[in-house]
Amino acid sequence: MTVLVTGFTGKVGYEVAGNLKKKGIPFKCATRNVKKAIDRYGDDYDFVQLDFAEPATFASALHVVDQLFLMYPPGENLRFEEFLAEAKQMGVQHITYISIKDVQFLPFIHHFKNEKLIRNLGVPYTFIRAGYFMQNLNDFLCREIKERQRIFVPAGKGKTSFVDVRDLAEVVSLSFQDSEQHRYKAYTVTGAEALDFFEVADKMTTILGRPISYTNPSTKEFKEHMLSSGIDKAFVNVVIGIHFPTRLGLAKGISTDYEELTGMKPTKIEKYIEDYQNAWNQL
Ligand SMILES: NC(=O)c1ccc[n+]([C@@H]2O[C@H](COP(=O)([O-])OP(=O)(O)OC[C@H]3O[C@@H](n4cnc5c(N)ncnc54)[C@H](OP(=O)(O)O)[C@@H]3O)[C@@H](O)[C@H]2O)c1
Repeated sequence: MTVLVTGFTGKVGYEVAGNLKKKGIPFKCATRNVKKAIDRYGDDYDFVQLDFAEPATFASALHVVDQLFLMYPPGENLRFEEFLAEAKQMGVQHITYISIKDVQFLPFIHHFKNEKLIRNLGVPYTFIRAGYFMQNLNDFLCREIKERQRIFVPAGKGKTSFVDVRDLAEVVSLSFQDSEQHRYKAYTVTGAEALDFFEVADKMTTILGRPISYTNPSTKEFKEHMLSSGIDKAFVNVVIGIHFPTRLGLAKGISTDYEELTGMKPTKIEKYIEDYQNAWNQL
């Protein structure tokens, strides 16, 4: 059995690879730029080139792959449907796709369409419908936390169901370890509590030992600041879109799927902040 981990250099893919490694499950890691990945991660991983916009990369990436951890990146001109067809043709036996919580109510987003494509493909699948990643705080929210001691997102006062991507990786691994049990299932994976960003800022303040605030910017203020900081407009719009349901109070649903699947409690945000505290060290 060999798993192909797509999005290895991203938040979920990296943790999926780490989890598979820990469990001794063979895997290969996909990236658009193998040289860059080797420079960054060394020779510990077996890298293959994969670009969803370049069908010429599909067959070699899928060579001798039985199981596929699949993520959908932002980007233009992705040939995702062709990639799925090639995966089926090359004998992939199980696809575990990272999707988003409440996707069934969001027919206008990519994940809705992608779940449908995968369901219709005729290959066993597991959908992991994830809550809001804690690791967004050390990823696209990191710069404002480091430079201005603030969480800067247009999420209003809404609560969101934070999840640690390490917990998602655990469920992804389980889906491959026991494919029969998890095929044709959709799991909603969240942490145990929904929090607003004021509460997250308070917890960061306590654990990091310096004041971090949530300034609750309006969408307009957020957009103007990000664009004037040179952030790409398409990306700014994606971030606004991600936080829109939270702003409307629609993101606070909690699921018990993680505990039922693993027998463990989901990771608390306090533990996440402790583990990642070096990420927010001041400049
Ligand atoms: N952030 C959240 O709170 C949240 C919540 C629920 C669900 N999700 C979903 O979770 C999924 C995984 O997100 P993530 O945060 O782990 O990703 P991420 O950290 O944003 O990383 C993006 C990854 O996509 C890869 N990539 C970009 N363009 C590509 C292309 N054309 N072909 C192949 N690979 C490409 C990149 O790899 P290279 O640059 O190495 O090629 C990178 O590894 C996304 O679909 C997201 O919508 C996110």
